Order: sequence, then C-alpha cells, then structure tokens
Amino acid sequence: MTKKTMIVTGASGGMGLVCAQEALALGYDLILVDLHAQGMEQFAQENRHQAEINCYALDVTSNQAVVEFAENITQHGAIDALIHTVGVSPNMTSWQRIIDIDLIATAKFLEAVRPRLAKHAAAVCISSSSGYMVPENEAIEAILADPMAEDLFYQLEQLPGKPLENTGLAYSYAKKALRFYVANAAKAWGSETKRLVSISPGLINTDAGKKEFEASENFEQMIASIPLARLGVPDEIVHTALFLVSEKASYISGCDILVDGGMIAGMGKAV
Ligand SMILES: NC(=O)c1ccc[n+]([C@@H]2O[C@H](COP(=O)([O-])OP(=O)(O)OC[C@H]3O[C@@H](n4cnc5c(N)ncnc54)[C@H](O)[C@@H]3O)[C@@H](O)[C@H]2O)c1
Repeated sequence: MTKKTMIVTGASGGMGLVCAQEALALGYDLILVDLHAQGMEQFAQENRHQAEINCYALDVTSNQAVVEFAENITQHGAIDALIHTVGVSPNMTSWQRIIDIDLIATAKFLEAVRPRLAKHAAAVCISSSSGYMVPENEAIEAILADPMAEDLFYQLEQLPGKPLENTGLAYSYAKKALRFYVANAAKAWGSETKRLVSISPGLINTDAGKKEFEASENFEQMIASIPLARLGVPDEIVHTALFLVSEKASYISGCDILVDGGMIAGMGKAV
C-alpha cells in the first residue's frame, strides 16, 4: 500500500504535536508547520526512522511564507490530508492578531494548500465552542464573513464601541466566522472532490487551554456544567480530526463537529 501524506499545522505543541504523533502511528508521512521550530524539529529527529517528516517553520500570517510553502510542498508528492490546528487564544495576544491568525490566515492557508491536495483529500481546521456562545451580531458577522477582504480591519474599527477590542469577543467571533467560512467554502472544495470540515473543541487540557480557562473566575462552575463534568484531552480532538480526514468520513463536508463533552448542549445553545 502506498503511504499517505498529511500536513499538520501547529505541530510544535498542544493538539498539533499530538496529531503528528497519532498520524505517525497510523503510517502517514508528515509535513509539519509551526511558527516555532523546536517542538516539531525534535519530534521529526526522533521519528525520521519511521516516516518521511519535513518541517516548515513559518508564520501563517505571512502571505509570502504561505505561498512559498504551497509551492515547496509539491516536492513531497500527493498530499492526502491537512489538519490545521494553528490558533491563538484570548489571553495570548492582541485582538488584531487573534482575528488575523484564527480567521484570516486560516482561510488563506486552506485556500493556498487546496490546489496541492490530492483528489479525495480532506482538510480539518479547529474552530471553538466559544463560537457557539456569543450572541448574534449582524454587523460583526457580516464583516468577518469575508476574511479575504483587504479592508477588514478598517471595517472592524468603524464599528461603534469597537467591540472586538475585547480579545475574548475577537476570539469567539473569529472562531464563529471560521465555522461559517467552512460551510461556504465546502462547495468549492467539493467541486474538486475534496472535503473541508471544522471541529469546535470545548475545554481541552493543553498548556494553552489551561492558561485560558484557569484564569476564569467561574472555572469550577464551568466544569460542573459540562454534561461529562470534566476537561477534554487533546487525544479526543485529534482522534476526531483523524477520523474526519479518513475515507471513513467520505460523506462529511462543510460542517462543524462539536467535541465538547456536551458543554454547548448543556447550556441549551446547540444549533
Ligand atoms: N485548548 C483548548 O481548550 C481549545 C479550545 C477550543 C479551541 N482550541 C483551538 O484549538 C487549536 C489548538 O489549540 P492548542 O490548545 O493546541 O494551542 P497551542 O497554543 O498549544 O498550539 C497552537 C500552535 O500554533 C502555533 N502558532 C501560533 N501562531 C502561529 C502562527 N502565526 N504561525 C504558525 N504557527 C502558529 C503555536 O506555536 C502552537 O504550537 C487552536 O486553534 C485553538 O484556538 C483550543
């Protein structure tokens, strides 16, 4: 059987590194991407005897770096799957960088890589359950509905009260918009017999995740309100992502899969 190749982004830590480990165990060759080289390079050094593993240290918000990446990866042959975990959370950075990384760069990365994916390939990107928690806001959502718009930040800055200067809101609306982006883009992906899906994790016990929810005052209460009454672990997101890019998920596209222990349903907000 010929080996399959998967791109995993965010591969130097958190869910991305777990994804690389699990994909390796399934026999994939790997193309790893992260802003920080160290975690993925170490993983590659330790595992190159098992599979072909190539690492690309780049900032996904750099158009030039992403275009060069998309050109370079043609040398690795057919690419069967993409799992894009790159993302930043509300306490990490500015509201602009959150919108840029979690929405704009994610959409651009997916589009840059799509032509390089083999027929019947699938891509998964990571949204968030917080995208289900924010109230509908027509003005914000209309602007974020076109992540490629050159004047997107100008438009956001014109909003009365500049609501997205709150990084928590910026994160939630960016992730909500990513969910809708996936739904809208699925037709173009489908026209090439490719699939695109998002996953919305709940509270997942990665280092980055812990920093976010442990900072919140009602942490214990939040956990208690989850039907499964616990945090999720990275494996639970990764196993879902690996299923979604597999042939077993061949009729799943253009939708979002909540992997949150029932948290959103418990809040009465499931859609
Ligand atoms: N952990 C949670 O509870 C949780 C919940 C919901 C959604 N998510 C989402 O899941 C994804 C993974 O989360 P995680 O907890 O593993 O986070 P993480 O911070 O551990 O991993 C994200 C990775 O992305 C990389 N990265 C960040 N900015 C980059 C850039 N500009 N260019 C290239 N690489 C960049 C980081 O270096 C890091 O290795 C993110 O999209 C996050 O928003 C996480």
